[in-house]
Amino acid sequence: MTDRDGDPQDAIDARGERRRDGLDDRVFERSAGDGEGVPFVGAGPGDPRLLTIAGKELLEGADLVVHAGSLVNSELLEAYCAHAELVNSVGKDLEELIPLMRDAYEDGKRVVRLHSGDPAIYGAALEQMDALESEGVPTYVVPGVTSAFAASATLRTQLTLNEVANHVAFTRPQGKTLSEAEDHISEFVGMGDVTTCIYLGTHAVRETMDRLLKDGHDPETPVAVVYHASWPDEDVIVGTIGDVADRVEEAGYRASALVVVGDAVTGAGYERSYLYGDWASKSTSD
Ligand SMILES: C[S@@+](CC[C@H](N)C(=O)[O-])C[C@H]1O[C@@H](n2cnc3c(N)ncnc32)[C@H](O)[C@@H]1O
Repeated sequence: MTDRDGDPQDAIDARGERRRDGLDDRVFERSAGDGEGVPFVGAGPGDPRLLTIAGKELLEGADLVVHAGSLVNSELLEAYCAHAELVNSVGKDLEELIPLMRDAYEDGKRVVRLHSGDPAIYGAALEQMDALESEGVPTYVVPGVTSAFAASATLRTQLTLNEVANHVAFTRPQGKTLSEAEDHISEFVGMGDVTTCIYLGTHAVRETMDRLLKDGHDPETPVAVVYHASWPDEDVIVGTIGDVADRVEEAGYRASALVVVGDAVTGAGYERSYLYGDWASKSTSD
């Protein structure tokens, strides 16, 4: 519950118990942020308001925050980590990061490992968690909003869309990490009813689109490149397999964008789902 100025207010429920902000405390006795050890927190795609409440509470109480560099908005760090020591993990290897987090934890400090988006997607979180656990430091995960969801919101569409896309693939293009044989973008696009969300592929839009054309995919297939989804400088390029690379090169984007391939990009051509019955047709025939 909030008053007109947006300040939280306490309320007494029917059983005479106090509730705050509309949330029944008994339901949230154990929240996502209550685990023991070092939490691996998803910072969300950029906009600090897309951080979860559990993540915000953990950051506000942290003494040390190890964060994922430029993919985490510095405004978020300024807003919620004012009292913490900040360490940028970019360029540091596990041999440096693990002792840093372990020693701080063993000294009684509250340590948070902050990943961009959600730690479960291209975050290499598990190897750090396993390394910490093998040093006797417990770990747990607090999820975040992955950039594909932010990009979908920016496009005002759905990644799954009735009769357009029944599946979603989170993927990345071939390169240093993925061999040519492990790159499945063409297969996903070829399935027709998959929305293919390509992470870590901004620098390779031209090569990826060329491969799709070479594999015989329809050049008119919609593609969106969403740069810095949810950031103040967010930008959207909507094109096709045939023309999007020219536009991305013109804009000069080489990193920090999500490439979405498939008909769901446009939000057009869907059939109404069964979920809401016949409401719309009834209301129009009235
Ligand atoms: C190392 S991966 C981390 C992904 C992150 N764990 C997530 O869930 O979004 C970095 C890639 O995520 C994508 N990315 C991250 N933040 C983004 C944003 N705000 N807008 C668009 N793409 C983003 C880009 O493709 C970038 O190359």
